[in-house]
Amino acid sequence: MTGGAGRDGTGQAMAGCGRVLPLPPVVLLAAAAVLVLAPDPYGEDCRSKTYPPSGPTFQGHVPTYVINLDLPPSKRWDQLMHDKKTELKTVIQNIKDIANTFFPSGKVVDIVDHKIVHLISSFPYPFNEELQGIANASGIPLGEIVIFNIFYEIFTVCTSIVAEDKTGKLYHARNLDFGLFLGWDVKNNSWTVTRELKPIVVNLDFQRNNKTVFKSTNFAGYIGMVSGVKPDTFTLTMNERFSLDGGYIGIFEWFLGRRDGMWMGFLTRTVLENATSYQDAKEKLSKTRLLAPAYFILGGKNSGEGCVITRSRTATLDIWDLDIKKGTWYVVETNYDRWKPPLILDNRRTPAMKCLNQTQQENISLPTIYDVLSTKPVLNKLTVCTTLMEVHNGNTESYLRECPDPCSPW
Ligand SMILES: *[C@@H]1O[C@H](CO)[C@@H](O)[C@H](O)[C@H]1NC(C)=O
Ligand SMILES: *[C@@H]1O[C@H](CO)[C@@H](O)[C@H](O)[C@H]1NC(C)=O
Ligand SMILES: *[C@@H]1O[C@H](CO)[C@@H](O)[C@H](O)[C@H]1NC(C)=O
Ligand SMILES: *[C@@H]1O[C@H](CO)[C@@H](O)[C@H](O)[C@H]1NC(C)=O
Ligand SMILES: *[C@@H]1O[C@H](CO)[C@@H](O)[C@H](O)[C@H]1NC(C)=O
Ligand SMILES: *[C@@H]1O[C@H](CO)[C@@H](O)[C@H](O)[C@H]1NC(C)=O
Repeated sequence: MTGGAGRDGTGQAMAGCGRVLPLPPVVLLAAAAVLVLAPDPYGEDCRSKTYPPSGPTFQGHVPTYVINLDLPPSKRWDQLMHDKKTELKTVIQNIKDIANTFFPSGKVVDIVDHKIVHLISSFPYPFNEELQGIANASGIPLGEIVIFNIFYEIFTVCTSIVAEDKTGKLYHARNLDFGLFLGWDVKNNSWTVTRELKPIVVNLDFQRNNKTVFKSTNFAGYIGMVSGVKPDTFTLTMNERFSLDGGYIGIFEWFLGRRDGMWMGFLTRTVLENATSYQDAKEKLSKTRLLAPAYFILGGKNSGEGCVITRSRTATLDIWDLDIKKGTWYVVETNYDRWKPPLILDNRRTPAMKCLNQTQQENISLPTIYDVLSTKPVLNKLTVCTTLMEVHNGNTESYLRECPDPCSPW
């Protein structure tokens, strides 16, 4: 049985990692348990020797698809949609069911299917045509594809790390956590949407003239980017920034017709596709007006090139740069501003930093970063996959994850 979030009205709103919907009762209980049993009962000692991935926290490899940028935008996603449309339909159906739980009249889904379609013309090229192509190739109504894309803009999280080793080599890695409050499955103690997303995780290799331009780890059907690498140039991830000042006002304004900000995932996609250097990427990510606040985590190819850019819709609030001379050999971002304490119920930052400190710069590598990202609660019930990236050659590895009990629900 799938528990609809907050169906009985006992839920409460909470801020954080896409954490703004009502809570199912079981989660409230879990949250209470966390408070009562502090320190975090789901926490554990820093993991070691978890790489190469195996065992109960590893659920499988991720398939790779080539996206040919020389094709017209409406044709680029045909092959991927041919293979993944059934799984994508399952996820979208689930999101619709949840929407109908909140608004039982069925109105919301009706609006999505019939009204949102007109918004497509306000998306810039090539995104408008790509979305149309995906709808066409999958047989899923265009409005639902659009909403699915907007969903990722809002609910994508969580832990990103850029680290530099003693030789000046840069690593960039992240856990992708997704699906909070999108239905708690009481039977197998998991988030329904988190589980259903795993089959649509794909590595994408975007090519022009048969040569890789950039690579990303994505959900099939989403055309923005949350994790990507431009080989020998830069690496980039995006985390949601829940912000009381401004929050999602820009998104509401966009629906109402004010279109002067950019969708965050379209910006990261544009940067990966067309930015020519770390500096160029940093500039575009800092200066482009957005629809909602975000964190951009950027890594370069030279020593000292790594930063977390904290964005409001219109401004850059902070840039946290690597500074090897001063001992800052890594930056880590979850979903909180670095100058503020993280939410007490959702502190993945301290455990991540603790484990990075314990690893030390001498021993940092993709395998030891995988250890950090495998330590609860950095690894939690929302974690869909772990992506490890190296700017050198654009080496990318993605692994589907599972967090066996006992494990933090987020
Ligand atoms: C939609 O798909 C069909 C075949 O699946 C194709 O013939 C048609 O050209 C496509 N339309 C667009 C707009 O891409
Ligand atoms: C979780 O439970 C559902 C039925 O409630 C089942 O279909 C699904 O396979 C289970 N998933 C896992 C990972 O055990
Ligand atoms: C890419 O490679 C394929 C076969 O490997 C070839 O048919 C095609 O012409 C190439 N395309 C370009 C733009 O070089
Ligand atoms: C990148 O630049 C090319 C050439 O100007 C353009 O055709 C393409 O649409 C751009 N990509 C994005 C995602 O904006
Ligand atoms: C990790 O090390 C840094 C630098 O020495 C320090 O500022 C920070 O408090 C440490 N964090 C944790 C959680 O150990
Ligand atoms: C680095 O890793 C090696 C092998 O795992 C270990 O023997 C060594 O103690 C580690 N060094 C530090 C500084 O942690």
